[in-house]
Amino acid sequence: MAKYKIALLPGDGIGIDVLDAAKIIFDKIKLDAEYIYGDIGWKFWCSEGDAFPQRTIDLLKNVDTALFGAITSKPVKAAQAELIPALQSKGLTYRSPIVRMRQMFDLYLCLRPCKAYPGNPLNFKEGIDLVIFRENTEDLYAGVEFYPPPQELIDALGKTSKPFAAFSKLPPDQYAISCKINTKAGSERIVKAAFDFARIMKRKKVTIVHKANVVRASDGLFLETAKDVAKQYPDIQTDDANIDALTMWLLKNPFNYDIIVAPNLYGDIISDLCAQMTGGLGFGCSGNIGSKLAVFEPTHGSAPKYAGQYKVNPIATILAVKMMLDWLGEKDKAVQIEKAVAAIIKDGKIHTYDMGGNAGTLDMAKAIAERM
Ligand code: IPM
Ligand code: MG
Repeated sequence: MAKYKIALLPGDGIGIDVLDAAKIIFDKIKLDAEYIYGDIGWKFWCSEGDAFPQRTIDLLKNVDTALFGAITSKPVKAAQAELIPALQSKGLTYRSPIVRMRQMFDLYLCLRPCKAYPGNPLNFKEGIDLVIFRENTEDLYAGVEFYPPPQELIDALGKTSKPFAAFSKLPPDQYAISCKINTKAGSERIVKAAFDFARIMKRKKVTIVHKANVVRASDGLFLETAKDVAKQYPDIQTDDANIDALTMWLLKNPFNYDIIVAPNLYGDIISDLCAQMTGGLGFGCSGNIGSKLAVFEPTHGSAPKYAGQYKVNPIATILAVKMMLDWLGEKDKAVQIEKAVAAIIKDGKIHTYDMGGNAGTLDMAKAIAERM
């Protein structure tokens, strides 16, 4: 029996292209692993009414870790229209499978390192090295949403919230409610993870992100909890910033930041900003980590217009493989991959289209594999 069982979940669009690239890297490092492909994605929504079928959930319960590609998502009405006719009357609602996976397996930590590898022509500035800790199961992603809001909810909110009075006068189909739910335990564990990482990796500072001046209840709780956690780490510098101001400061002086910890949605937004500062989404890698399972993925989406063209940059996914090996404790292999990626970027001879060249997805993966 192989030492590890690894699920490969390509999903849709370029998810398939980049997982083929990842397979080249897995083959090269000769990990003692069994790779099992799993079904996930838009095509399963259309044909079965479920983009994350039960058989894939069962697969994830039986593997050590997984690599996920990307999934195409569409708004509720458009999603309904694409179901096969037999399913259209069933009242199914589409919810992003990756969001469901994060919640179902309690993959509470979304780890997103954003490092400017020297010589990357797409670096915003050389030397940027940020690590984002994004809470991954709560916040506006809780999935507690109402459109139109039910009468019981309207009545209850009317009794407890003064500002709600203005909305409650509207006909229910004229407004929608999405709940932002942050828990103390959820905030505590993501912030602890960030500080523990700072300590182990000898990083200098953790920045807590919020909008507690306006979103007083949920972000207020996140900020207060985070500040309490910070007290247990007097050796690490701490500061906090409002999400809006942080985006400006990050661009103005990225070197003032080091580790950033944020509730789910702000973490999502900062992820794209920081990925862009370090080469773009072709370089943004991500780990969804829980206490039992971790699922690694590129931060980018399924880019349907490039699907099957094998032209997108596979480095994001290859760095996600590197993260997976770190998590498995295969440190040497992780270092081997990262060194090869860094060397190929520094050489500057192989560039995918995003980097201004015409190397294909698999050309880039092969070049990295050859450098290992
Ligand atoms: C991400 C993505 C997802 C998210 C989408 C695809 C649901 O943007 O992983 O950053 O919002 O979390
Ligand atoms: Mg995102």
